[in-house]
Amino acid sequence: MNRKRILVTGGAGFIGGNFVQYMVEKYPIYDIYNLDLLTYAGDLSKHQEIEKQENYFFLKADIADRGAINSLFVEYKFDFVVHFAAESHVDRSITNPGIFVQTNVLGTQVLLDAAKQYGITKFIHVSTDEVYGDLEFDPTTFFTEDTPLQPNSPYSASKASSDLLVRAYHETFGLPINITRCSNNYGPYHFPEKLIPLTISRVLNNQKVPVYGDGKNVRDWLHVLDHCSAIDLVMHEGINGEVYNVGGHNERTNLEVVKTIIETLNKSEELIKYVSDRLGHDKRYAIDPSKLEKLGWKPKYTFETGIAQTIQWYIDNKKWWEKIISGEYQTYFEKQYTN
Ligand code: NAD
Ligand code: TYD
Repeated sequence: MNRKRILVTGGAGFIGGNFVQYMVEKYPIYDIYNLDLLTYAGDLSKHQEIEKQENYFFLKADIADRGAINSLFVEYKFDFVVHFAAESHVDRSITNPGIFVQTNVLGTQVLLDAAKQYGITKFIHVSTDEVYGDLEFDPTTFFTEDTPLQPNSPYSASKASSDLLVRAYHETFGLPINITRCSNNYGPYHFPEKLIPLTISRVLNNQKVPVYGDGKNVRDWLHVLDHCSAIDLVMHEGINGEVYNVGGHNERTNLEVVKTIIETLNKSEELIKYVSDRLGHDKRYAIDPSKLEKLGWKPKYTFETGIAQTIQWYIDNKKWWEKIISGEYQTYFEKQYTN
């Protein structure tokens, strides 16, 4: 039997990076190709261990570069595409929406064209619950796969656009696909511009933590390794053409998250600094994961076990995030939080 070739786009980023490591270790029978442009969010140092494995390969390319992507499909004849590569930060999409359309929409279309032209077993498109818009603070309402798409930020609008293209390539050309829509991930190697790693790194350095608005917005937290197992399941067992929501019923207000981190690290709540609210700030996200559970998915982490493990990881891996926050990140931080 031929070895399966899995193209993972965005495998130098947070979730794609965890997924690449998970797949290289779990499936020695698969060859895992990590394709990434290495933007500010991409970092290969996290893969030092798996670089020694025979089933791991790195390809540097821009998903929006049609010529480069077509050549790679011709050369490697991928069986599966698991598509993570994207611009992923809502705040950056408010200051610079253009690159979100370029990477998330056009880049996805280039990959879809290549998959259609050269043939694949399945294209897994990793999307987000943010495409559904937001929910009121009513704990009985959830996003299901049938919730209409009503994205509110340039980021979520670009992701929704890419979801619609993936759906259209399935309906029009018969491309075998699945779309996954997950809630907010957290865990090892999370880039410290996002709430949880930003809070942990700043609290460890005794720096103020910026909380937008009144801190009452709600997110539904998912440990990144539970997300990896969900994608693994969808890749192997997902019904062609279906969308699957991924979330573990871990709703917390931002203030609860920040206070949990401060308390775990035995620091003072005086580190909290309320700052101006994000423009168009979505109130609440909450996932109904029952469709995926019926397929056989069960998360391993509760929010309590996951956040404890994550905080410990940031304590043990200070070198990794200190390298990031000492570079270009400082300019980003000052610009983002000055007003
Ligand atoms: P990330 O920002 O950490 O990583 C993105 C990766 O994509 C980086 O390695 C970057 O270098 C690469 N990349 C960016 N532009 C590229 C291009 N043009 N060509 C090739 N590579 C490029 O993102 P993440 O948090 O790991 O998110 C991965 C995916 O999951 C995204 O599609 C995102 O929309 C989705 N998602 C993320 C979350 C979350 O909580 N982080 C939640 C739901 C969905
Ligand atoms: P974030 O991690 O950027 O993820 P998303 O916007 O995709 O949900 O933000 C999570 C929540 O935390 C969101 O409600 C915005 C809020 N937030 C802050 O209060 N302060 C911050 O510095 C950041 C980055 C986010």
